Order: sequence, then C-alpha cells, then structure tokens
Amino acid sequence: MKILVSDPLSNVGIEIFKNTPGIEVDVKTDLTPSELEDIIGDYHALSIRSKTKVTKELLSKAKNLKVVGRAGIGLDNVDIPAATKAGVAVMNTPFGNAITTAEHTIAMIMALSRNIPRATATMKDGKWEKKNLKGREIYQKTLGLVGIGNIGSLVAERALGLKMKVIGFDPYQPPESIKKMGIRPVSFDEILAESDYISIHTPKTAETTNLFNKETLFKMKKGAMLINCARGGIVNEDDLHDALKANHLGGGALDVFVTEPPGKICLMDLDNFICTSHLGASTYEAQDNVARDVANQIVEYLKTGKAPNIVNQ
Ligand code: MLT
Repeated sequence: MKILVSDPLSNVGIEIFKNTPGIEVDVKTDLTPSELEDIIGDYHALSIRSKTKVTKELLSKAKNLKVVGRAGIGLDNVDIPAATKAGVAVMNTPFGNAITTAEHTIAMIMALSRNIPRATATMKDGKWEKKNLKGREIYQKTLGLVGIGNIGSLVAERALGLKMKVIGFDPYQPPESIKKMGIRPVSFDEILAESDYISIHTPKTAETTNLFNKETLFKMKKGAMLINCARGGIVNEDDLHDALKANHLGGGALDVFVTEPPGKICLMDLDNFICTSHLGASTYEAQDNVARDVANQIVEYLKTGKAPNIVNQ
C-alpha cells in the first residue's frame, strides 16, 4: 500500500509509516495541484494538513485512494461529499492540538489585556511607553465561550484556574454537562451582554459564518475583547474593524482569517487589534501529536477498513 504525504508532517508520523510492514511512503510537500493530480492515482492513502486541496477533480483521478487523513481538525480543504461519493474515507485528529490551541487562546487574552505586542513594538522603536499601555487584570472578569467542545472546555479549565468567571453558549451541549465544567450556561445574547472577553470555539458552518457582525459586535459590552482562534469568517473582519475603531470594543485578536494569508486588511491599522498567523495549533507537541494520530489512524484504516475519527462513514 502506498501513502502520499502532501503537506509537512512531523517525523513522528513519517516514522510510523516507514516502520509499518507493507506500507511504502512518499513525502512530496511542494506539488502543484496539477502535479498532485498526475500522481494521485498511484496512492492508497493521502496525508494532508491545510494546504492540499482535496477537490472533486483530484478525487476523480484518485482511482486507488481509500483514505484521506488530516493532521489537525479543520476539513475546510476537503470536499467531503465528493470523497463520500468516491468511496474515500475522510478522517481528522480532533484531540492532538486541543491543548495547544486552548493555550494560544489564553495567550491572546493576556497579550490583549497587557498590551504585550504594542509594548514590544514601541520598545523596539526606541520608546519607553507606560501611560498609553496601561493594561487590565483578568481576575474576576467574565469570559464568554461560544462553543464548549474539546477546545472550549480546555479554555474554560485554564480560565477558571486564572480565577475568571466563565459563561458559555453551546446549543449542542446539555446545560447539565456545561455546569459540570464550572461554566454557567447562558444564551448567545447573554454572552454578548455579559462578557468582558468572548472567545470562539465553534467550527465554521452556515450558522456560524459572520456570527460576529455589525449587529452582534455592537451588542457586546463596551470595552469587551473578542478572540477568534477557531476559523476565519466567523467574525466579519470589516465589522470588527468598525467596532474597534469606534472604541466600542476594547480589543480584538484573530489567529484565523477569511483569506489566509489575509494581506493588508483594514484591521492591521488599528492599535487595539492583535493577530497571529494561524498559529493556534503550531507547537512542537501538537504537531507531533497530530502526526502520530493521523499516521496510526491511516495505517489502521488500510489494514482493517476501520479507524477512529472518520467523518463520512
Ligand atoms: C486545525 O484545524 O487543526 C488547526 O486550525 C490547525 C491547522 O490548520 O493546521
């Protein structure tokens, strides 16, 4: 059986493929879409991250393909209905980078609250600013979580440890299980009205696209801060710009964008906006975890026709 690794994968995963009898692995991470289409017919499994686009066209050339494995959570780059139609299993690794992403969220909350990016930039510019960079404590502040799945619940645990009050909205979780996590279950409108910080932890779906728009952003508490380390497009970037520019919101932090990389979008001109280049899952630990998970799952699927975290069977 032949496996193609078409996006960078930590060595931990490559070694699992190499050490499995009966498996041959090729690592080709710089292919153009048409180069990939030319060779995909030779492979039984494809290991990807977010760069490779698994389109209908690619799948139509993938005559031997049985499984696509995503090292990570998001499957925005895979045409899942087309894969299902082609009889190709699609799997992700939903747990390996959850801690890392939760930690990034906390880092964003801290960086916004204490002006760390601006302090760094002004000092590197030879200045010693104090008055303009006065921060705020997060102690006893209310964090509103939109989405309380794997990552949202880990953010809650950490925020509670920092003595924040945590409220949460998740229509897919029973209020009782939300309460057991130390989170007060509330409606979406209550999250907007009560939170000093809102952090988003939902997938991008028709329901969540533009969930944070002109109307909802201006319903947030004056001075509140918004953090999105989930998916680009859940927050409308132009509307966030307007809410920050009007100083209705105290700060905004995005790790994810509608288009990645986003280029020079209007948000970049604002002092109360900070950003990272989709680094939520980028730690050595998380990349080893997701590589190990995806490699084990692909091998298991090729050997037995079954594996965890298949999203289309
Ligand atoms: C994920 O979906 O796993 C994260 O957003 C990180 C990534 O895209 O690799």
